[in-house]
Amino acid sequence: MNTIQTIAVVGATGMLGAPVTKTLRRQGFSVTAVVRDMQKAQQKLGAGTHLFKGDLADKNSLRSAFADSDYVYLSLSTQPGEKNSRFKTEIDGLRNAIEAARSARVKRIGYLSSLVKDYKADDWWVFDIKEEACEILRSADLPVTIFYPSSFFENLTQLQMKGRRVLMAGNQKTQSWWISAEDFGRQVANSFRLDREHDRDCEYSVQGPEPFSMEEAIDQFIRNYKAADLKKTKVPMGIFKLLKPLSPSIDFQYHILNAINRYDEKFQSEKTWQRLGEPTLSLADWAAAQG
Ligand SMILES: NC(=O)c1ccc[n+]([C@@H]2O[C@H](COP(=O)([O-])OP(=O)(O)OC[C@H]3O[C@@H](n4cnc5c(N)ncnc54)[C@H](OP(=O)(O)O)[C@@H]3O)[C@@H](O)[C@H]2O)c1
Repeated sequence: MNTIQTIAVVGATGMLGAPVTKTLRRQGFSVTAVVRDMQKAQQKLGAGTHLFKGDLADKNSLRSAFADSDYVYLSLSTQPGEKNSRFKTEIDGLRNAIEAARSARVKRIGYLSSLVKDYKADDWWVFDIKEEACEILRSADLPVTIFYPSSFFENLTQLQMKGRRVLMAGNQKTQSWWISAEDFGRQVANSFRLDREHDRDCEYSVQGPEPFSMEEAIDQFIRNYKAADLKKTKVPMGIFKLLKPLSPSIDFQYHILNAINRYDEKFQSEKTWQRLGEPTLSLADWAAAQG
C-alpha cells in the first residue's frame, strides 16, 4: 500500500520555493510550508498546503513544524544585509533546521544550493556561505540531498522584467542550461521518492534542456512572451561597479551577475537526468505560458 509522504518546506514563499512547493503537492506529497508570514504564504501558495508559523531563528518552532514530516526541503537565500549580521540564514538557520530535523526523526533533508557558487575568480562572502552550508550538510548526522541548479527561467519574469523592459547586465560569453522551477520541482519530488537511507548523501547538478547565453535567453523569452511587447535593455556592468560601494544590494547584484557572466558552465547533469528524470519544459514554451 502506498502511504502519502509528508514534507515540510522552509522557504515556500520564495521565488523558487513557491513553485517547487506547488509541484511537490501536485506530485502527491502532503506539504507543510513553514512560514514567517501566514498572509503572504496564503497569497503565494493558495489552498492545499498546510501552513505552520515558524522561523529558522526559532528551533522550537522548527521542531514542532517538522514533527510529522518524513522529509524537510530548504529553499533559502542569503540577503545582502547578512554580511555583517550575527544570524546567517544559510549557516545558523541551516544548523537549527538540521538539529530540529534530527530530533523530529526526519528521514532526509533536501537543500537548494547553486551551480555558479563554484565560480572561484571572485572572492565573494556569499559563495563562502554557500560552500560552508554544503559542508554543514555533509557532516550532518542524517541523510541529505543537495541540488546545484543553473539559472531559472523565473529570473526573467520576477527579477529582470521591469514593466515592458527585460534587463540584461553586461555580456555573458558563456552559456547556462536554464531550467524551470516546475521541472526542478519534479526532480526534487523524485529525489525524495528514490533516495533511500543507504544512499546517504546525494548531490545533483540541475540543468535544463537547452543552453543559452543571457542575451539568447532574453531574446527567446521576448519572442515567445504573448502578454506584452517586451524590449531588451542592456545595462553595462560598469554602472554596477561604480554604484556598488553605495549599496549592499547593488554590491550583491554586481557579484552575482559578474559570476553568471563569467562562469564557464559545462553540462554535467547526466546522472540527475537518469535518476530524477529529464526536464521537459523549453524556454519558448514556458515563456508562451506566462503573463
Ligand atoms: N535564481 C536562480 O536562477 C538561482 C539559481 C541557482 C540557485 N539559486 C538559489 O536559490 C535560492 C532561493 O532563491 P529564491 O530567489 O527563491 O529566494 P527568496 O525568494 O529570497 O526566498 C527565500 C525564502 O526563505 C525564507 N526565509 C528567509 N529567512 C527565513 C527565516 N528566518 N525563517 C523562515 N523562512 C525564512 C523566505 O521567507 P519570507 O517570505 O518570510 O522572507 C523565503 O520564503 C537562493 O539561495 C539562490 O542562491 C537561485
